[in-house]
Amino acid sequence: MANSDTAEPTRRDFLYIATGAMGAVGVGALAWPFIDQMNPDASALALASIEVDVSSVQEGQSITVQWRGKPVFIRYRTPAEIDEANAVPLSDLPDPLARNANLPADAPATDVNRAAEGNEPWLVQVGICTHLGCVPIGDAGEFGGWFCPCHGSHYDTAGRIRKGPAPENLLIPPYEFMSDGMVKIG
Ligand code: FES
Repeated sequence: MANSDTAEPTRRDFLYIATGAMGAVGVGALAWPFIDQMNPDASALALASIEVDVSSVQEGQSITVQWRGKPVFIRYRTPAEIDEANAVPLSDLPDPLARNANLPADAPATDVNRAAEGNEPWLVQVGICTHLGCVPIGDAGEFGGWFCPCHGSHYDTAGRIRKGPAPENLLIPPYEFMSDGMVKIG
């Protein structure tokens, strides 16, 4: 009797410990991604700025890259797209400001102020709709630029809001062309 009295609690202890250990492994595995994301380690700091090789992007093409967790649209515009944007009177623009982090805050939203200085065919902009944050679709909308399907915002070929609820032009991040084919964002 004495043996069975001691054997049963021992088995329960073992089962308890085994279950507890599995639970601990499970929690550890789930918790890791969150802890990892909150830790501003070297890889996160490195993403403060990125260098993008755009040398293979052809006229009329766009690429999307990730910068600080946001999509950034980089587009090599055609002459027709640039002409179209230049032809728009500033008085037609719902948002008259360039929203270009590389220029003074009150710079007007001319095409040249939206484009890359010295590389005017290129447009670099954060791909987040200024209404409620959806990601617009390229080569779409009534103005040949970007269209946000969430609530119907239309941006033109310079990324300026032209129609719909978005209050501001697509934001232009700090960036510079290091050379013809290399752009540094951030
Ligand atoms: S989030 Fe783009 S139109 Fe509302």
